[in-house]
Amino acid sequence: GDPRLEAISAAIRVVPYFPKKGIMFQDITTLLLDHKAFKHTIDIFVDRYRDMQISVVAGVEARGFLLGPSIALAIGAKFIPLRKPGKLPGKVISESYELEYGHDRLEMHVDTVEPGERVIIIDDLVATGGTLSAAISLMESQGAEVVECACVIGLPEVKGQHKLKGKPLYVLVEPSELDEFC
Ligand code: PRP
Ligand code: MG
Repeated sequence: GDPRLEAISAAIRVVPYFPKKGIMFQDITTLLLDHKAFKHTIDIFVDRYRDMQISVVAGVEARGFLLGPSIALAIGAKFIPLRKPGKLPGKVISESYELEYGHDRLEMHVDTVEPGERVIIIDDLVATGGTLSAAISLMESQGAEVVECACVIGLPEVKGQHKLKGKPLYVLVEPSELDEFC
């Protein structure tokens, strides 16, 4: 396969039992420390989206903020932050999503996209897909067209893709079963 994907995979730190038992935390802060691997990550997304008439990159708080703006700048798109509740000062729309226990919400400023604008939604990782589904709903409520959701990491054991309202999902790496036990 693509040697860049090997480098990206190797730069992601897996932290067992963080933040709690049973979770194998996929830590991209180590990817950000590795200039080559970080550059490969952004380059792969930029190469994929540069000729797809994307005018909006929407990033999901918090870790989608670490990736989205670099991609937006490189493809000539604007960046829209999708934030946790109560953080955005302007008029917002809000969308709830399920967590393992309870629920959370994402918000976006209204009047940031025109109907028909083509959007990609960026986050570090997709697990259940609940977060990305909420992001898709926010964008679609404003008349934007979600072209694809893109993540560095896709967890294979969860069926996130079925929750994404039929939108394509693009992931760079999927942790191996071995990682699950290291
Ligand atoms: C993590 C991760 C994704 C989301 C994926 O974020 O960064 O955004 O969970 O899970 P899902 O597919 O099951 O919805 P988290 O909510 O932990 O917050 P953070 O990014 O602000 O650290
Ligand atoms: Mg997140």
